Amino acid sequence: MRYITSMKNKIDHKVTELISSEEINKIVINLATVISRDFANQEVMLVGVLDGAFAFTTDLSRALHKMGMQNMIIDFVGIDTYGSSTTSSKEPRITKDLKHDIRDKVVLIVEDIVDTGYSLFVLQSLLNARLPRKLATIALLSKDTRREIDVPVEYIGKHIPNEFVVGYGLDYEGKYYRELPFIGVVTK
Ligand code: IMP
Ligand code: MG
Repeated sequence: MRYITSMKNKIDHKVTELISSEEINKIVINLATVISRDFANQEVMLVGVLDGAFAFTTDLSRALHKMGMQNMIIDFVGIDTYGSSTTSSKEPRITKDLKHDIRDKVVLIVEDIVDTGYSLFVLQSLLNARLPRKLATIALLSKDTRREIDVPVEYIGKHIPNEFVVGYGLDYEGKYYRELPFIGVVTK
């Protein structure tokens, strides 16, 4: 277990490692193995959900490429769920729309973590209204016990307990810890 202590200008936190970067790599490879098999010979569009899924989308897209999925389009959508708190909002806002048209496309949403499910629900409704040929969701992490709305998540990297996690794209208060190469739990 590894700890990092607070840095200047940050609140006094401790981050305890929950998922090492080696384990993250394995999770990404395992997901890419299954997804590249399920979508073999199909042109897919990866839709990374900003900001939290930037790291996961990057690594997953490269793993998929290595496994033979070599004609994908990568696009991003911005969704703001938390504001600056650590509890979910029931009214997530779209802050950045896709660049590409998804009509008749095979679209894979790439999300960092599914918590209550509200942001994914909003995003899936928005994208389904644009009539993709297929819409599926990949989430690196899922806090199953926190789910308040039933949303389909076809691929889940790892199920985690109800704790607030940071690192590998995930932030604290919209600001800190996204750059950590591992995923950890924040303790005050
Ligand atoms: P939901 O709408 O409650 O499912 O929230 C999902 C979004 O909230 C995710 O896409 C994350 O951006 C963020 N989120 C949920 N849980 C955590 C966490 O433990 N750490 C950091 N961000 C989180
Ligand atoms: Mg997110």
